[in-house]
Formats: sequence, structure tokens, C-alpha cells
Amino acid sequence: MGKESPFRGDIVRGKVALITGGGSGIGFEISTQLGIHGASVAIMGRRKPVLDSAVSALASLGIPAVGFEGDVRKQDDAKRVVESTFRHFGRLDILINAAAGNFLVSSEDLSPNGFRTVMDIDSVGTFTMCHEALKYLKKGGPGRGSSGGGTILNISATLHYTAAWYQIHVSAAKAAVDAVTRNLALEWGADYDIRVNGIAPGPIGDTPGMSKLAPQEIDSKARDYMPLYKLGETWDIAMAALYLASDAGISKQNNNCWFKRRKSRMNTED
Ligand code: HXC
Repeated sequence: MGKESPFRGDIVRGKVALITGGGSGIGFEISTQLGIHGASVAIMGRRKPVLDSAVSALASLGIPAVGFEGDVRKQDDAKRVVESTFRHFGRLDILINAAAGNFLVSSEDLSPNGFRTVMDIDSVGTFTMCHEALKYLKKGGPGRGSSGGGTILNISATLHYTAAWYQIHVSAAKAAVDAVTRNLALEWGADYDIRVNGIAPGPIGDTPGMSKLAPQEIDSKARDYMPLYKLGETWDIAMAALYLASDAGISKQNNNCWFKRRKSRMNTED
């Protein structure tokens, strides 16, 4: 039996979510929980079989779900998938960037192209998806009616807060993701009423990423250094995502904020 949600079952009813990397791991659990709590869900991924089985699993729970093949590194794919989501469901409220690439390698053995590959997936991919989704998420955008702006949630990590063995590429990429999150929160919050947040999971046990990355010692010694003596679960992250994606995550904004005044001044000074 599944765990009991602390949230009301309709907390995201009527909302449409697009989740990159939504076919597996953290992205799939977020997709599932958004769907269970009332959202319609589009998932984007590179591997068709993974997408197909994820969509079947979501549909078996009664969740309106669709899968779109695409690579976040390709701007055309990003544009097509965002537009397809809009065409399929008639609006877009929630963009979740959960797609990520990873492998363990020493800095000495990592080629610059390997470094670039992960930067491209995690950081550039996140920005590209946000960039293509902006039109639909901004207040007054297509399909938004009288509702305000939508929301973006970027899945990051904690390994770049200090340093992590054999993860230089991911550390750099996730640091950039955090920067993208903060800067878009500032600009698009003020200009377009879009809430942009990030979630930074520590090691999450039940994911393909973890089984690929986690050296054996995570299961034994490393737990001694974890605050709760255990790995996190995808459920933990999905509950945080649900809160941030729902209207519970909205606080009243000051419409006359300094950022807006500053932008209009910048425009008139041109
Ligand atoms: C060294 C590697 C490598 C490896 C790829 N490269 N795998 N280098 N060790 N294991 C290098 C290649 O040699 C190449 O450089 C460059 O990276 C591109 O490789 P491709 O195979 O052409 O790339 P691609 O097919 O696009 O594959 C992308 C990938 C792949 C990231 C490399 O592993 C992937 O997509 N994995 C699935 C996604 C995933 O792992 N998700 C879990 C994320 S977990 P050269 O120079 O040879 O051309 C996560 C959590 C973080 O993010 C926090 C953890 C605590």
C-alpha cells in the first residue's frame, strides 16, 4: 500500500505539469504525486520505452498523462515538447526540471566533452526548458485566463555545497542550476508573476541515479554521517515538490516592488 499523503487530494487540481526526466527516479515520483493530487501530467525523456511504461503506470492510477520524447539539450525538442503539452492539455502551469545526467569519474579521467555533456543536460537544459516555457507560464500567457503566473521547480543536489569525489561535472552543473533558479526567481517573479524554486535532494535511495552512483559504502558507513541515519526517498522530494507547485506555495506579492520599478526605469532610460 502507498503512503498516506499529508495533502488534500485536490491540491493541484486543474493544473497542468510538464516534468523533464519524469519517466524515472525522482521525476517519476513527482509526476505520480502531482497526478494523484489532481494535476494532468506530461513527461519528457529521451528513452521511448521508459516513457511508455511510465505513462502506462500513471494512466493505471487514473492520471491524465502523456509522454513526449525529447532531449533537453536540443532547443527544438524543448520548444516542441512545451508546445505539445500546451496543445494536449490547453495550458501549462508547472514546469519541473528533473532531467539530469551523471556518472562517476575522476577529474583526471573526465574529458572536457564529458564535463560539457553534463553541463548541457543539467544546466543549459534547465535554462532552455524555462526559456521555452516562459510564454505559457507568464501571467496573461496563452491558456492562463484570469489565473496568475505559473511555477518552475528545478531539481538540484547538495554535493556542490562542499566537494564530492568524482562528481566535478555534476557539482559544477548543479551549482549553475541553483544560479539559474535564483536569477529567474528574481526576474520572472517580479516581471511575470512566475514562482521559481529549487529543491536540493541529498542522496535518495530508490533512484536509478543512486544505484549507478552510490558506491557500496553509502549503504554502510556513510549513513553514520547522515542526519537521520538513512537515505532520502523519492517520496520526500515529491511531497516538497507538491507543496511548492500547489497554491500553498504562493504568498502575496508586493506588486509595487522595487524590481518592477527598477525595470521600468531601465526601459525608459534607453
Ligand atoms: C567517463 C563518460 C562516461 C563515464 C560518458 N562519458 N559516460 N566519461 N565516464 N561513465 C563521456 C563520454 O566519454 C563522452 O566524452 C561524453 O561523456 C558524452 O558521452 P555520450 O555517451 O556520448 O553521452 P550521452 O549518450 O548523451 O549520455 C549522457 C550521459 C549518460 C550523462 C553520459 O550517462 C546518461 O544520460 N545517463 C542517464 C541519466 C542519469 O544518469 N540520471 C541520473 C542522474 S542522478 P568524449 O570526450 O569521449 O566524447 C543525479 C543526482 C546527482 O543527477 C546527485 C547525486 C548525489
